[in-house]
Amino acid sequence: MSDRAYVIDTMISAKAIAARIEELCREIQTEFADTDKLVVVGLLRGSFVFIADLVRELDLPIEVDFLEASSYGDAMESSREVRILKDLRGAIEGRDVLVVEDIVDTGHTLNHVTHLLQSRSPARLKSIALLDKPSRREVDFRSDWIGFEIPDEFVVGYGIDYAQRNRNLPFIGKVRFVADAE
Ligand code: IMP
Ligand code: MG
Repeated sequence: MSDRAYVIDTMISAKAIAARIEELCREIQTEFADTDKLVVVGLLRGSFVFIADLVRELDLPIEVDFLEASSYGDAMESSREVRILKDLRGAIEGRDVLVVEDIVDTGHTLNHVTHLLQSRSPARLKSIALLDKPSRREVDFRSDWIGFEIPDEFVVGYGIDYAQRNRNLPFIGKVRFVADAE
């Protein structure tokens, strides 16, 4: 399946992403205006580009930590069982926490991760996802901030992969399979 030929059509330009991140950061700064330190938690690996742009636009005292949850593997379908592959380095009890995700799809990943982190008694816990595919939701989960709502399309770029490829595209593109040219 992953060696089927495909092309990538631009869905969200790098410029549109940057403009949206500025807006989101104004809102996050308002929400956490009084924080002494915000722990920004990136979900590996898909959020690494988003979190890098986000923290450079955030005018708040922050710390960065990472967590890795199991996801698609190399396939296009989500696994419903979420496992923690790499936990946070730091404790978050009594801290302000912002979880940063690339896409909310079925909702299982962020739902599981936010419940896990909530059980560690942070002072405030919020989440942000660059993309949201609400039509795919299987659990009742809503991220506090969403960059863009998108239709049920498989996307790549800006940190997001298909079989580990295309993470380095500066924009969000949609994968379109084409008939093999023999
Ligand atoms: P969920 O648990 O179904 O919400 O899945 C979330 C994870 O699935 C995201 O963090 C992505 O890693 C992955 N995912 C969902 N949709 C896409 C997509 O269109 N392209 C690549 N990865 C995706
Ligand atoms: Mg992911």
